[in-house]
Amino acid sequence: MKIEKFFFEPHGDYRGQLVAIENEKSIPFDIKRVYYMYDTKGGISRGHHAHRNLKQVLVCVAGSCRLLLDDGKEREDIVLNRPFEGVYVDNCMWRIMYDFTPGTVLLVLASELYEPEDYIYDYAEFLKYVGAEPHPEAEV
Ligand code: TYD
Repeated sequence: MKIEKFFFEPHGDYRGQLVAIENEKSIPFDIKRVYYMYDTKGGISRGHHAHRNLKQVLVCVAGSCRLLLDDGKEREDIVLNRPFEGVYVDNCMWRIMYDFTPGTVLLVLASELYEPEDYIYDYAEFLKYVGAEPHPEAEV
């Protein structure tokens, strides 16, 4: 499974860095929603779900965390710690975010408004939805 990443040019000078993300130019969908996680507690994990339609790009704008992506057949586990890099999370991808360091801010650009019906919260149901053989969810 290949993880797609987007590079956002940092405009740095003696004052520090600035990154701009523009609709239709920087990522492959219209951004309809932006949300972010902060004050994440040590030892917790988030996510544990997939989306039927929603596409997202994750940017760890401060700190560091890990992202486990699972398409039902393969898994990839990466560190997110670059404020100038977006990681594409396609629809039908099981995701777990964990190992947040104190002060981490994880920004999410999303292709749709918040739709609770779009979520798949059950791993076995997710595997069935993507047509994969049953197997256990990864432990983090
Ligand atoms: P949740 O789905 O549990 O977060 P995660 O996927 O990181 O585990 O979301 C936490 C709460 O925030 C939950 O009550 C739903 C709410 N929420 C919104 O109201 N709007 C949103 O766009 C999102 C992503 C979550």
